[in-house]
Amino acid sequence: MKAAVNQIYGSPDVLQICRIPKPAPKAGEVLIQVHATTVGRTDSCALRAQPFFMRFVSGLRRPKHTILGLDFAGTVEAVGDAATQFTPGDRVFGLTPDGHGAHAEYLCMPEDGPIALMPSGLQFEQAVLGEGAWYADTYLNAFQLKPDHKILIYGASGAIGIAAVQLSKYYGAEVTAVVAERHLNLARSLGADRVIDYTAEDFTKINERFDFVLDAAGKTTFFRCNRLLKSTGAFSATDLGPWGQNIFLELWSSISGNHRVVFPMPKSSKALVEFLRVRMESGDLRAIIDKRYALEDIADAYRYVETGEKTGIVLIYMQ
Ligand SMILES: NC(=O)c1ccc[n+]([C@@H]2O[C@H](COP(=O)([O-])OP(=O)(O)OC[C@H]3O[C@@H](n4cnc5c(N)ncnc54)[C@H](OP(=O)(O)O)[C@@H]3O)[C@@H](O)[C@H]2O)c1
Repeated sequence: MKAAVNQIYGSPDVLQICRIPKPAPKAGEVLIQVHATTVGRTDSCALRAQPFFMRFVSGLRRPKHTILGLDFAGTVEAVGDAATQFTPGDRVFGLTPDGHGAHAEYLCMPEDGPIALMPSGLQFEQAVLGEGAWYADTYLNAFQLKPDHKILIYGASGAIGIAAVQLSKYYGAEVTAVVAERHLNLARSLGADRVIDYTAEDFTKINERFDFVLDAAGKTTFFRCNRLLKSTGAFSATDLGPWGQNIFLELWSSISGNHRVVFPMPKSSKALVEFLRVRMESGDLRAIIDKRYALEDIADAYRYVETGEKTGIVLIYMQ
């Protein structure tokens, strides 16, 4: 089978399209023929091993796993011994458990892992919104978002921001989305109640208070957004912030008991993927695809993701 392989950490130049043996499903696993995957920020951070401390998990000098890829959608080709939940021919989607393996024509997944049947009628490329939705739902759950809460989502045009707007509306919240002018219509179409163009207006100066502020682009700080929060409000962000401040602020928040900053670690599960299946089926959640690349051109997909300009998802398809 063909796969995008990185034997070393580095820029997208280190990626090679190689022919390697097709994996065989072990007991409790399914073999999936991958039809669609993505290149996301998780992949690009893993490719470069940034931040550096990632290497303590992914391999100090060289990557332990040489095929990246988190999101997948495809067809079950075979099942291992004792695997009973799926049958060959099933259309499935999900997230690879440790963020490795989907940038290949075939992939083995534990059937108890984050994998579910695709909603009927959905195209494969519409089902690979897992990374953004997974992160977004982690933050919204940490906020315990409820109907009539007011949330401001800064950077609502990336994969996480787009999913956060849609899921916040599903949870019944009132959403203010902050995006560049070119994304105002997109944010409205996702259901945002109010949109702000950050290139024309400083959103931190608006005369409104929110239960929650989510920095979905990793471009602002708690200290800039603090004044937007109600006295019981909380802030979260997708990134560590300057000098890793969000980790320390979360720690301080939990010690002081004010819970002003939450910085949850996402953990994928079958329950999450099942939740996404239902949300896609009911039309609450849809993928916004920016660009499409063949697996052979995956290095260009990484280069584009690294610009920080993508709108939603960068899709990889198998030929
Ligand atoms: N470490 C990890 O493993 C990991 C994994 C996932 C995500 N993340 C972090 O999560 C964040 C979001 O990732 P993502 O994949 O959803 O999207 P992304 O690729 O970071 O988002 C790009 C979007 O953000 C917008 N944007 C750029 N600068 C902005 C600014 N100053 N203010 C508001 N919007 C801005 C861009 O549109 P415009 O330029 O037109 O505004 C573009 O639509 C990233 O910062 C990433 O580092 C980290």
